[in-house]
Amino acid sequence: MTRLLISEGTVVSATGRSAADVLIDGETIAAVLAPGQAEALGITADRTIDAAGKYVVPGGVDVHTHMELPFGGTNASDTFETGTIAAAWGGVTTIVDFAVQRAGENVMDGLADWHAKADGNCAIDYGFHQIIGGVDDESLKAMTYLVDNEGITSFKLFMAYPGVFYADDGQILRAMQNAGESGAVMMMHAENGIAIDVLVAQALARGETDPRYHSLTRPAELEGEATNRAIQLAKVAGNVPLYIVHMSASEALEEVAEARHRGQNVFAETCPQYLYLSLEDHLAQPGFEGAKWVCSTPLRSKHEHHHRDLWKGLRMNELAVVSTDHCPFCMKDQKELGRGDFSKIPNGIGTVEHRMELLYQGVVNGEITLERWVETCATTPARMFGLYPKKGVIAPGADADILVWDPHGHTSIGLDAKHHMNMDHSAWQGFEVDGKVDTVLSRGTVVVENDTFTGRAGHGQFVKRDLSTYLL
Ligand code: URP
Ligand code: ZN
Ligand code: ZN
Repeated sequence: MTRLLISEGTVVSATGRSAADVLIDGETIAAVLAPGQAEALGITADRTIDAAGKYVVPGGVDVHTHMELPFGGTNASDTFETGTIAAAWGGVTTIVDFAVQRAGENVMDGLADWHAKADGNCAIDYGFHQIIGGVDDESLKAMTYLVDNEGITSFKLFMAYPGVFYADDGQILRAMQNAGESGAVMMMHAENGIAIDVLVAQALARGETDPRYHSLTRPAELEGEATNRAIQLAKVAGNVPLYIVHMSASEALEEVAEARHRGQNVFAETCPQYLYLSLEDHLAQPGFEGAKWVCSTPLRSKHEHHHRDLWKGLRMNELAVVSTDHCPFCMKDQKELGRGDFSKIPNGIGTVEHRMELLYQGVVNGEITLERWVETCATTPARMFGLYPKKGVIAPGADADILVWDPHGHTSIGLDAKHHMNMDHSAWQGFEVDGKVDTVLSRGTVVVENDTFTGRAGHGQFVKRDLSTYLL
């Protein structure tokens, strides 16, 4: 077995930082040693990675991606191969993607389909959540089976997208009751899709077809309302763990904060797009340009303090996780499907490569601490979704999934700069951030170093997840 030593770095965890060397034996972390201890104990390694002046942190865990998702009349443009290679470039060593079941379809078939897409193609480790797009007796039974046998311990339901993935309140309650029995976490896309569809039809009838109307027809109140409804349903179902995905609005954050203060098992994630991008500066760009930033929940007005509130929510642990909701579509042949009708633009933004970089800028800007960066991007997602203590932590026995981060480096993001996602544009074009991915290890294998991808598709393994260890 190869022995590797990451020496002289500053090891950062969710709770602190210290000068330490990390000894790796094969795929696993063998020891975290005080400076000089390796030498004193006569420990030798086959290779030493010099991390002097750098941070050594757990590899990123992105618990919300959509590789190859069929959506909006096309497929998300990253395959499991291209998407996980891009993730590795960004210091991410585990993704959790969403297998899909639609109304009338069999859950096990949907899962088998996702395994077929991913198996042998991933550069980093991966797990699956299961989307339940049709709640009925059969899919409820399958949910229990997935928790007990398949390592799938979380399920996403949609209060949005009527006719696609939408679940009504009765279906949501039944699925939550089921999750309560099996110990699973319910994930919720919380937007009032029925009301949104009325607003969309009215806007189109007025000739309002540009991309910016995507946000104007999905008002923050309808995210807040749906979030509250999901919280109440989870409470009625028996304080079932509820995780609100891709939160963009202060109104929704308030609902989560109140529920948490009441002691309810309610959690939420946000994504970099909701911390940095806005209706005015991105979605409302002239002509059809704004299509690049059509995603749901939508980008919000920069004048309504959502950015400020979401950053504060991250500091206060009202938001526990930062994921990406990586769902990339090219402009050509994909986003273009919605030229002349914003409601036909495939929903999604590609970010899997840039989450660690963009959130580190939050550290530089004084929005969050270095430890909170590690916590929200690696440790808590791993705990929330049953990957801990294998993932999300640098400790003996954990998988050697490690990001060596250079705080003195710099990253220029964009098609002409750093960009490895399978997209013909970048939603982050022109972003300049402090810090840089230096070296990335996935289960002891160096997959990125010296600005080169050194891993391979097929190295990544499916991870059967346990129940959440983050519940109140
Ligand atoms: O715009 C988005 N978020 N696309 C992916 C599907 C979803 O709702 O997460
Ligand atoms: Zn969603
Ligand atoms: Zn999503």
